[in-house]
Amino acid sequence: MESFHDLLIRRHSIRRYTSQPLDPEDVKTILEAALLAPTSKSARPWQFVVVEQREDLERLDACKSFGTKPIEACTMAVVVCADAEKSDMYIEDMSIAAAYMQLQATALGLGACWIQVRSRFAADGESAETIVREILGIPDNMVVECIVTLGHPDEERRPVDPSKLLWEKVHIDRWRASEE
Ligand SMILES: Cc1cc2nc3c(=O)[nH]c(=O)nc-3n(C[C@H](O)[C@H](O)[C@H](O)COP(=O)(O)O)c2cc1C
Repeated sequence: MESFHDLLIRRHSIRRYTSQPLDPEDVKTILEAALLAPTSKSARPWQFVVVEQREDLERLDACKSFGTKPIEACTMAVVVCADAEKSDMYIEDMSIAAAYMQLQATALGLGACWIQVRSRFAADGESAETIVREILGIPDNMVVECIVTLGHPDEERRPVDPSKLLWEKVHIDRWRASEE
């Protein structure tokens, strides 16, 4: 069985997908990963909207002016949103759940990509969050953090070379000024 560290080394954003459908068991496992994610004070302020209809995916693709290519290409997308009234750590909570789904997808041999929605805008300046809410009927009080796209990979990404990690970002005992 692949170690967790090897999984981290292998994980990459996958933006191209084949047309092969997702196994419903895999979909369930990925959604379980989101629901297993820790949240501040166990508030679980998040909600997840699963999108599979091609027409909806095409409409979501236009929610912002760049960086949306995987939405139209994917087999399924999970929109990650949260009620900000339920926790002051809702952004962290949504982010951890999204990351868990990406890692779970990788572990299953699937591809995933995080598409940022919050603080992003469509070509005409409209908020990407407003567009996503309108398409999917998400209530106005929900913050939409991102869309996690999923599918069978149609691209090869090389595992990360651990010797290229930025160890200068790690400070032991005290902050150490960079030599740069
Ligand atoms: C907060 C966040 C926002 C991101 N937004 C987008 C996005 O809108 N579109 C996209 O194609 N990739 C997006 N990504 C994926 C990053 O571009 C990707 O993680 C980064 O380039 C590193 O590549 P890797 O995931 O293959 O290691 C986002 C990732 C994070 C963590």
